[in-house]
Amino acid sequence: MNLKSVLNNLLKCKSPQELIEEGSNSGLKKTLNVFDLIVIGIGAVVGTGIFTIIGSAIVGSSDGAGAGTAIVISMALAAIASVFSALSYSEIAAMIPVAGSAYTYTYATMGEFMAWMVGWILMLEYAIGNITVASAWTGYFVQFLKGFNHILPSFVTNCPLWLRNDYRTMYELCNKYGWDAHDKMPFIHLPFGFEIPFAINVPAIAIVLILTLLLIKGVKESTKVATIMVGVNMFIIFSFIVVGAFYVKPENWAPFAPNGLEGIFTGAFVIFFAYIGFDAISTAAEETKNPQRDLPIAILGTLVLCTVLYIFAALVLTGVVPLGSIDTQAPLAHAMRFIGIDWYAGLISAGALCALTSVLLIYQLGTTRILFAMSRDNFLPKSLNAIHEKFKTPHILTWLSGLIVVVCALFMDLNISAELCNFGTFTSFIIICIAVLILRKTEPNRERPFKVPFCPWFPIMGVVTCLGLMYCKFSAKATSALYFVIWLAIGVGIYAAYSYKAKREEEAGMICEAAPAEDVSELTLQK
Ligand code: ALA
Repeated sequence: MNLKSVLNNLLKCKSPQELIEEGSNSGLKKTLNVFDLIVIGIGAVVGTGIFTIIGSAIVGSSDGAGAGTAIVISMALAAIASVFSALSYSEIAAMIPVAGSAYTYTYATMGEFMAWMVGWILMLEYAIGNITVASAWTGYFVQFLKGFNHILPSFVTNCPLWLRNDYRTMYELCNKYGWDAHDKMPFIHLPFGFEIPFAINVPAIAIVLILTLLLIKGVKESTKVATIMVGVNMFIIFSFIVVGAFYVKPENWAPFAPNGLEGIFTGAFVIFFAYIGFDAISTAAEETKNPQRDLPIAILGTLVLCTVLYIFAALVLTGVVPLGSIDTQAPLAHAMRFIGIDWYAGLISAGALCALTSVLLIYQLGTTRILFAMSRDNFLPKSLNAIHEKFKTPHILTWLSGLIVVVCALFMDLNISAELCNFGTFTSFIIICIAVLILRKTEPNRERPFKVPFCPWFPIMGVVTCLGLMYCKFSAKATSALYFVIWLAIGVGIYAAYSYKAKREEEAGMICEAAPAEDVSELTLQK
């Protein structure tokens, strides 16, 4: 085998037509309409960012200055950075409405190797991002339980820290407060296994396992649950804005940008996490009734709606609570406690739990669908795509995506996983913008129900803004930047050791299909 043939293999593309035909034969039922898609979008976007991360974006952290009230500018910047990619996603998703999101689109434009790498990188966005959300979920769950401390036993409302934190956070807490991890106080004391102290985030792991079972039961059921949760969390944010507006003191908005441009850009970087998720809509393309019309409406609609809600919520938060008193764990609930409406703080915690649960659900759905597309393409063993006999869902992949989060949540904390998730998302956004440019050249005549305006400038601006934000983190020599490079290296290793060979065997016709042909028509991800 010579270098030229290896290179040819790495650059082998699937034609958009091939992808569309493959998608239409997948057996996935087309049941989702524009409302379902917007529910998926809002469910994936509104979560940790607005309920948790907004606090540190305003106040700042040991990693960077806060934006203050100018967080509204940071939010607008993060939205602008997202909108170029959202437009690019819309163009391609409407043109090639198949499962797999950026992974599939890369296969159509940049070839086999890049497609594998993008699929691998998307795992950062979807699976590792879920660790951030699951950790934040625990935070609000603990807050929620505290509201019942007169009914519940104290070991539930005040359970030991090692049972509600990952190992890394536990040690950071010990360092921060000068605790000894070996202290015999039951609240702090870490148990030892094989001489090694350990901590385990039980609520995070439990919620991920429960959602895994729900997803195995069926996607329609899952989106029904998501619809209820999205409704609840929209109501909570909306009512936070309305109720809080009566308590705004305009003097709290001054100084508007206490840390100047540095605070505004750092805030934009941090709050970007709040915008991640609208691309999850495109992972459901194959299950959409009218993808050409509905995908662009859902993607852009979600982004605009969330930006408006975020900006109003941020104005109310900074107007109600003076900068120095804004909480970084549960800022919206704390704001209500600050103005003395305790019961409403409890309600916000419940709403936050709904929001975070729907993000978890949608992200796990996204992880499974991307893995589904990758193993259909033989990058991963086809046996992983097995469909559950009763529920008709890809149960092995659903378990796999849940277990990745459970295992990683043992040693990764909220910040590292959020930053890694951002790296994965920036990369996939960049790829999507480049894919639009390539497809305009290679498939100029293919029907485009939606077109990015001002092409090539908008996709180029998408690439530049995402690269700029990634560069900020690399130049700060963040731990997450190192992890990102390691993640890429592992991806290259798996491709070289398994996927490349599997693809060649597939080409040589040596692969027997996992499911017999007559069974394929019965494969469906829904009841
Ligand atoms: N945008 C999602 C969230 O804020 C990831 O939780």
